[in-house]
Amino acid sequence: MTKLEQIRAAESKLLLQTYERNPILFVRGEGVHLVDEGGAKFLDLLSGIGVNALGYAHPAIERAIVNQSRALIHTSNLFYHEGQAELALRLAERTGMDRVFFSNTGTEAWEGALKLARAHAGLLRSEGKHIGTKFLALEQSFHGRTYGSMSTTYKAKYREPFAPGVPGVEFVKFNDVADLRAKFSNDVCAILVEAIQGEGGIRPLTQEFFAEARKLADSTGAFLIVDEIQAGMGRTGKWCGYQHYGIQPDVTTLAKPIAGGIPLGAVLCTEEAARAIHAGMHGTTFGGGPLACAVAIAVIDAIESEGLLKHATEVGDYFQAQLRGLAKKHECIRDVRGKGLMLAAELDSADLAKLTVAEMLKRQILINCTSETVLRFLPPYIIERKHVDDAIKALDEIFTEKAAAVSAVHQIAGGNSLG
Ligand SMILES: Cc1ncc(COP(=O)(O)O)c(C=O)c1O
Repeated sequence: MTKLEQIRAAESKLLLQTYERNPILFVRGEGVHLVDEGGAKFLDLLSGIGVNALGYAHPAIERAIVNQSRALIHTSNLFYHEGQAELALRLAERTGMDRVFFSNTGTEAWEGALKLARAHAGLLRSEGKHIGTKFLALEQSFHGRTYGSMSTTYKAKYREPFAPGVPGVEFVKFNDVADLRAKFSNDVCAILVEAIQGEGGIRPLTQEFFAEARKLADSTGAFLIVDEIQAGMGRTGKWCGYQHYGIQPDVTTLAKPIAGGIPLGAVLCTEEAARAIHAGMHGTTFGGGPLACAVAIAVIDAIESEGLLKHATEVGDYFQAQLRGLAKKHECIRDVRGKGLMLAAELDSADLAKLTVAEMLKRQILINCTSETVLRFLPPYIIERKHVDDAIKALDEIFTEKAAAVSAVHQIAGGNSLG
């Protein structure tokens, strides 16, 4: 038995079977590549689902981990350490927000944001305002797997097995201003959006819809909460997706790439929102620990010193242009969309999307498929044009072979019908 086979056999007996893993055992990474147990190198266009912004074995991350782990890994939030305020300042300056709460994961950050909205609405009610507790979330949204996050996530397959969810959530048709207006009222405490939906298929909000959400929220004192867990921290070429629209939310959430692979999330909010939270109302044992904060500071500094926002924009634009070129050649590509290094090619069939991911894997290139038909690209920010060229060449080959196979089948079918 190979080591991989041994691990697969053990996991199949010992772990909850929540994941359909690809049969690869990665043992290390360098730059934009992952290396398996046999030494084979894979070009990573997924970065651990949008996490490894600086790729693998980046010296800034290694240095921060080594230095901080020698000094202090954990203290709890009962005491001060050097990292939280320093990181909060960097995040506040870059996102336009005032205050930060640190969590460990994306879903916990989102839970914090939901709690903040309900607590703030309660505060407004105590001040005599008429505002309810309802959340308006969007169709195709994804916000995580814990109860509040799951309840504000659209797809039934994520919610129904665990019903009943958190009450008071209604879904609005994506980018449908009329539906948003019809469902908004004084009962709503927050409108929940991703500036660019990730799991839902890399779908950007329209300017009109986003602006209307801001306007409606302002009309009652409800919050506009933007989930930047996938789009944020520079992936789209700006620190946050909402900055492409010139719209500032009341609350936003960050996670995934924030600490380069060490778990960390953050809820960021305005001074007004922060009025609703007092000591003891919310908390976490691990969130914002010294190690995660030190690494996040190193990640932000590296993104800036290496000019990676500009780089993500430039290589992302190049990648998107190449995908558009492919779409002209191959009818199976229905749409190409995204911003910076958060990109998608939507295909005309779920089977083809699945096959493409598998064929890319055979060619040692990692991508994935979301929303059944959407090929998703979330590469590390350090990706170069030559890596994009390799990926495009592989996709071109796969679609050409597929088209040839389909046309052969049609010829046989056509021949049969003639006979
Ligand atoms: C937009 C968005 N929100 C929330 C989450 C949940 O984050 P986590 O998996 O860290 O809990 C994700 C994860 O994919 C996400 O893409």
